[in-house]
Amino acid sequence: MRTLITNGTIVTADGSFAADVLVDGETIAAIGAGLAGMVQSDETIDATGRYVIPGGIDVHTHMELPFGGTFAKDTFETGTRAAAFGGTTSIVDFAVQSKGQALRTGLDAWHAKAEGNAVLDYGFHMIMSDVNDDSLAEMDQLVTEGVPDFKLFTAYPGVFYSDDAAIFRAMQQTTKNGGLILMHAENGPAIDVVAAQLVAEGKTDPYYHGIARFPVFEGEATNRVIRLAEAAGAPVYIVHLSVIDALTAVREARDRGTQAFAETCPQYLFLSLDDLGGGFNGAKFICSPPLRDKDPNWEQLWTGLRKNDLQVVSTDHCPFDFHGQKEMGRGDFRKIPNGLPGVEDRVDLLHDGGVVAGRISRERWVEIVSTEPAKLFGMYPKKGAIAVGSDADLVVYDPDRVRTISATTHHMDVDYSCYEGRAIQGGSDIVMSRGSVVVRNGVFTGRKGHGRFIRRAPADYARLA
Ligand code: URP
Ligand code: ZN
Ligand code: ZN
Repeated sequence: MRTLITNGTIVTADGSFAADVLVDGETIAAIGAGLAGMVQSDETIDATGRYVIPGGIDVHTHMELPFGGTFAKDTFETGTRAAAFGGTTSIVDFAVQSKGQALRTGLDAWHAKAEGNAVLDYGFHMIMSDVNDDSLAEMDQLVTEGVPDFKLFTAYPGVFYSDDAAIFRAMQQTTKNGGLILMHAENGPAIDVVAAQLVAEGKTDPYYHGIARFPVFEGEATNRVIRLAEAAGAPVYIVHLSVIDALTAVREARDRGTQAFAETCPQYLFLSLDDLGGGFNGAKFICSPPLRDKDPNWEQLWTGLRKNDLQVVSTDHCPFDFHGQKEMGRGDFRKIPNGLPGVEDRVDLLHDGGVVAGRISRERWVEIVSTEPAKLFGMYPKKGAIAVGSDADLVVYDPDRVRTISATTHHMDVDYSCYEGRAIQGGSDIVMSRGSVVVRNGVFTGRKGHGRFIRRAPADYARLA
């Protein structure tokens, strides 16, 4: 099957230009002006007035995550399907090692969840909850199997929490095997003290989830894990960075030459502590780190994205229904499952709030939602690029379309939207995964099981720093 995309404006991280794109089978076969008169194709897609961009890559999702006494609702099928509607063509999800388990057990379980179900290509990071001699040795094997990143937590004592010794040992291991440590950086033990004090005072509403998790707890933990990485001589990637205290730690580390990388998420750019108010409705907005004060954090995070102190915007997609799941925490915010839906909205929110609002260029938009995630997570130029030989993961994007986000029309398997009623400009007309059209003008044309495991290699972190 050969498909020709004509008359569009190709937008990449490096620049924009008018050209046609020829897709042959699963990959891009040619790029150039006037291809229409020169090549044969089975289908021609007219992209007049549209951007042609590499498909979005969301490197932080939690499909079917067992968490907070329940499970994140989207499966690999429903979650990747929703992602496709929003212009994302690859995800990297977090497989989980439970305490007392081998990494292998957790990774096998995630392969089983995804294989035959995912609509889009997917990779895995590995959550490590139990750092010991065996799991450290297993890390080396996982790197060779295309799972080169490992997430550890300074948060969630008793669940995913690792102490400094465990974190440091895992970092040392990556200096030998070439992998990357991803850190959830919040001071979990200190947060638990404050949370218990608030509950004892009768402050049990969702709002107090945001109060308990002081910005300095994220700043302290971010600085600490970066310092540990420096001591180990390892690169480090901070996930879901939410607040200026943590951003400052990353910026200072990068300024002194550390291979420190970080992502933020749409919820920290567009939602705030105010959303956690309003009684129990605030449960819809409970995630960790929590939503922060709008000022000065939103604009500081945008500045971080412009200046490359932040390299990636991912979603941390971890959806729980309001009814029946978030409701488990009525009367005690500590029992509300942590996590927000978002995999479907990321590319459009960043286009609207970033490009249309004049905060970032369209090239930087493509870079932070696709190209840089591909580079940092060992998928480039197979993914994240419009280049001959790259996978034909392409989006024909209408920069002018206006739509309103709503749970009544979204495709994520969750009963609310954090952005309900928000009008946004920009949307995907055609979404192509390895040469197959999976969404065409709002209609799903993909196939359960089309998605393949992306075997990733460690990146050259020194070069990307
Ligand atoms: O609240 C969140 N972020 N839930 C998902 C798990 C995690 O920490 O990433
Ligand atoms: Zn986390
Ligand atoms: Zn997460």
